[in-house]
Amino acid sequence: MKKIAKWESPSNIALIKYWGKHGGQLPNNPSISFTLTNSKTITSVELVSKTDKNIEFLFNNDISESFSTRIENFLNSISSELPFINDYSFIIKSKNTFPHSAGIASSASAFSALALCLIDLKQQLGFKITDFFSEASYFARLGSGSACRSVYGGVALWGETDLIENSSNKFAVSLNDIIHPIFKNYHDDIIIVNSEKKHISSSLGHKLMDTNPYRNIKYKQSKINLNELLLSLKSGNLTDFIRITESEALSLHSMMMLSNPSFILLQPKTLQIISEIIRFRNHTKIPISFTLDAGPNVHVLYPHKFTDEVKEFLSDNFNHNCQIINDFTS
Ligand code: PMV
Repeated sequence: MKKIAKWESPSNIALIKYWGKHGGQLPNNPSISFTLTNSKTITSVELVSKTDKNIEFLFNNDISESFSTRIENFLNSISSELPFINDYSFIIKSKNTFPHSAGIASSASAFSALALCLIDLKQQLGFKITDFFSEASYFARLGSGSACRSVYGGVALWGETDLIENSSNKFAVSLNDIIHPIFKNYHDDIIIVNSEKKHISSSLGHKLMDTNPYRNIKYKQSKINLNELLLSLKSGNLTDFIRITESEALSLHSMMMLSNPSFILLQPKTLQIISEIIRFRNHTKIPISFTLDAGPNVHVLYPHKFTDEVKEFLSDNFNHNCQIINDFTS
């Protein structure tokens, strides 16, 4: 019988940032993220009889050699743990629901969807699965660290912390059972400042943390931030949520500026948008806040009940000169 698996998985935005790693893609500090809803990758993986060509990879129905090489390297790297990979050739078809270079982490959704397909196929082939999503998260992590959090909807934690039982550096866990309802459908509107490819990749950014003289302070502070963020995610205290997530975003970019060599991914427009968000919050008392990924685009976070007010604010101030992608955590 034909063996095919199809999964979709969204991207995610980190609130506590993973920046720096060691060993086999293990994080230097635990991280927490919101998984998005609209911005996702849809992937199907079909196992076919083994031929010389191990993998055929189609992105948006076109053959993509560069992605294909990355996926082939990934499959080779995990084949000792998933030996069925050696017995088949693969036809992989993938597409994103968001523009390719919109500054949304496409490797997170891509490797999450791919890992879910692989564990599905493992199950179809009759191999024992202990915990489907933990296993998928484990393999997603080996593809791209932050991808391990995308396996779960809502809020996910990756990395060991005493505060959450079963937390691990090897895979992410869902925090949905302990999250306050205010964070259900929490919005993330992404203002695209620049959609060009970054001049410094995340891989290089992680690597530069190895020699960053401020790394230990950063990791200590991120652990404190994570503990405090967990409390606010449980209680629904938005004042703390905003203080901690904004500090984490700026600390991520500070680390880039303090690396050796240093680099800057923020752009003047990023800072201008951040100032406008803070001004709007102070003026209206609406709990809107920002976070940043490793790039210049601004993620605007706010509770669902303020949708109309924030929509008006964004369209008055930014819609005419920036693309905005509307998403939310479900
Ligand atoms: O998963 P990577 O290697 O692309 O790294 C992601 C790093 C950040 O997006 C900046 C932070 C995070 O935790 O997602």
